[in-house]
Amino acid sequence: YVKNTKEILDKASREGYAIGAFNFNNMEFLQAILEAAEEEKAPVIVATSEGAIKYIGKGDIETGAKLAVEMVRTYAEKLSVPVALHLDHGRDFRIIMTAIKAGYSSVMIDASHLPFEENLRETKKIVEIAHAVGISVEAELGKLKGIEDNVVEKESVLVDPEEAKIFVKETEVDFLAPAIGTSHGAFKFKGEAQLDFERLKKVKEYTQIPLVLHGASMVPQDVVKLANEYGAELSGAKGVPEDMLKKAIELGINKINTDTDLRITFVAYLRKVLSEDKSQIDPRKIFKPVFEHVKEIVKERIRIFGSSGKA
Ligand code: G3H
Ligand code: 13P
Ligand code: NA
Ligand code: ZN
Repeated sequence: YVKNTKEILDKASREGYAIGAFNFNNMEFLQAILEAAEEEKAPVIVATSEGAIKYIGKGDIETGAKLAVEMVRTYAEKLSVPVALHLDHGRDFRIIMTAIKAGYSSVMIDASHLPFEENLRETKKIVEIAHAVGISVEAELGKLKGIEDNVVEKESVLVDPEEAKIFVKETEVDFLAPAIGTSHGAFKFKGEAQLDFERLKKVKEYTQIPLVLHGASMVPQDVVKLANEYGAELSGAKGVPEDMLKKAIELGINKINTDTDLRITFVAYLRKVLSEDKSQIDPRKIFKPVFEHVKEIVKERIRIFGSSGKA
């Protein structure tokens, strides 16, 4: 069923495209992501954060991880495209071990808040354990904050390419998420969108492994506008423009994490559907058109990433 994340991403790195890694919290989002991938004939990564695992498991991470695996496995069996299940932002040993035991394809160890040496040590420890059981590992270097005007601040939060080289060599990590100026959520840039492509280029040159872009949602302005028209308060929401995503892929990004674009699409169309069909009380009839739009945004992303037809 669930395929090896490393195989999918190594191929993407060799051939120069990116795979979408889409976060889900429930069955409907998962269905929308998998249907989109199948229709695009694209390999896909579905991901759960620790928060998603807790949500699915009603607070119990073993239950949440098991249900996530079983849902993905059951749907993926019926599909023709490779599907991998990834633990997003694993912050401690317990959540990572839980995901590995439950049957995840890959895990992220996010020790990027720690000093470099400690991040390296923690990552190396996880890599040894995960590789022993055939699970691939993602780590992060630098911090996911927007590029600040202050140069000192910028140097301290963005990835240092020389450190990336040492880090990858020492840890033998499979994929690396270098901080180059993106951030999570719907408000990524105060002014113009700006990413440090020079840094990205160097990190790829020095590491030669699949690279990951977090905080990569586009935050489509038509969707923001629609949500606001139906009562949301999202003015100032801004994401990573399409041309910057394409440039990042050209320079070596092979996994593009996306959560916010699905969330914002869900909220915009849920508001619309509820306000246009005020007598509807069947959640299935409400969700059906809403998740059609979630599926469409996933397909649009997959096409931008260049992974359509790569299954
Ligand atoms: O890393 C951020 C993802 O969007 C997951 O967010 O922790 O709210 O599930 P979450
Ligand atoms: P967005 O908030 O831009 O969708 O980023 C999601 C992410 O990086 C998950 O790890
Ligand atoms: Na991740
Ligand atoms: Zn992330």
